[in-house]
Amino acid sequence: MRSYTSTSERRPWMASAIWGWRLELSLAFATVMVLAVADAVSPVGPFVVVTGALVALWRRPDLRKRLEATARDNREIRWLQYALWHCAVVGRDGSIPKVERSARLPVGRRYLICLPIGLHCEALQDRSNELAAALSAREVRVKAIAQNARYVEVAVIYANAFPALIPSPLLHRPSLSLWESLAFGTGQDGLGVTIHLPEHNLLIGGEPGSGKSVALSSLVAAAALDPSVTLTLLDGKQVELAPWSPLAERFVGADQGEAVGALEDLRELMDRRYAALAASRKRKLTPHDLDGLHVVVIDELSFYLRGGKKEAREQFAELLRDLVSRGRAAGVIVVASTQKPSHEVVPTWIRDLFSFRLAFRCTSPDASDTILGQGWASQGYSAATIDPGMRGVGYLLAEGGLPVLIKTPYLSDGEIDQLAHRALRLRGAR
Ligand SMILES: Nc1ncnc2c1ncn2[C@@H]1O[C@H](COP(=O)(O)OP(=O)(O)OP(=O)(O)O)[C@@H](O)[C@H]1O
Ligand SMILES: [Mg+2]
Repeated sequence: MRSYTSTSERRPWMASAIWGWRLELSLAFATVMVLAVADAVSPVGPFVVVTGALVALWRRPDLRKRLEATARDNREIRWLQYALWHCAVVGRDGSIPKVERSARLPVGRRYLICLPIGLHCEALQDRSNELAAALSAREVRVKAIAQNARYVEVAVIYANAFPALIPSPLLHRPSLSLWESLAFGTGQDGLGVTIHLPEHNLLIGGEPGSGKSVALSSLVAAAALDPSVTLTLLDGKQVELAPWSPLAERFVGADQGEAVGALEDLRELMDRRYAALAASRKRKLTPHDLDGLHVVVIDELSFYLRGGKKEAREQFAELLRDLVSRGRAAGVIVVASTQKPSHEVVPTWIRDLFSFRLAFRCTSPDASDTILGQGWASQGYSAATIDPGMRGVGYLLAEGGLPVLIKTPYLSDGEIDQLAHRALRLRGAR
């Protein structure tokens, strides 16, 4: 096997290095040429050219900023190339991966990289810690591109994407449509993470104080800001969802019998909607239908599934299963939270029906797996690894098929009141 330091293997690397300096080299070359021509024209020519260039840069801050940004981008690309070279991340011919495109992230930079023959995504993933150290970064993340194994996405993260509090984007929204993708949190790359709730149900789990009710508040706020959405709220603790009760068609506190009644009414609603859909030869509710989405939020499932009388518990469990399994096409969305979604608290036959899952900090990899699904912890997606101090941080398994670490926005009591008032005005104005 050839060593990457041989002269023949240096050539592709040198070409990349020179290419990385193209802006600076072309500017230097153009400057020398212009100065030489100006000097030939008049002895004061170079002075006039330099003064003119300085005045142009002073008068055109946009141009100056663009030049600075391009120089900074090129410099960061060069750093990555140096790191790849120094860490010997090279293909069979000694060439380093080629940066095809790059873009700024709120907490670093991401690159679309074309791999030379001999390298593959896992090989780069194995070296990510080494690359992070070479780049003095917090972390380097390498993601495969599903359409083409030759390309990978590399994110170099320099700053913490999870500040103590992330303000809710809903605070700036006068109204919204729940049929559209909903901003649900911030990912590790500092970019927003969205979910598309129609035709999905969401199960949220995590240890006490991990951030479940805060996440539920954000979802209720979003649903409330869509005047076409009807809300049913079930809150075993009463205080978490209480500020939203004036907006709900039905608010149930710590009363199991009433909770069963609410789910029975929802089943009737679902049956009516299916009958209407069948009559109009449609298979599912769409944004153009008169009936809007119906969002059912349950904070602390265990209160209704574990407490009270056995008969009421079983009735509640059966109604919930029916709602989660048949609600999709009828526009009924169930969002539920639980401190411990083990089979003793939430029967597996209900839990497995939730297509979206969010696992906040858990005490063990097993507990994390009971929320996300069997096997994720052993693949490196364990909510037990989340620092207990990082409240509101969890693994979201939704679109994309792989769990992603996110932090949800925080809504203070005052902000919840503000949003609830806005939603009330909006609904009153309908
Ligand atoms: N996204 C977040 N950003 C910042 N702080 C958060 C966030 N989520 C939760 N917290 C903090 O954690 C505290 C507990 O959150 P929350 O009430 O949502 O926990 P929980 O999981 O519902 O707990 P329990 O199981 O006891 O009901 C909040 O009062 C807040 O201080
Ligand atoms: Mg709670």
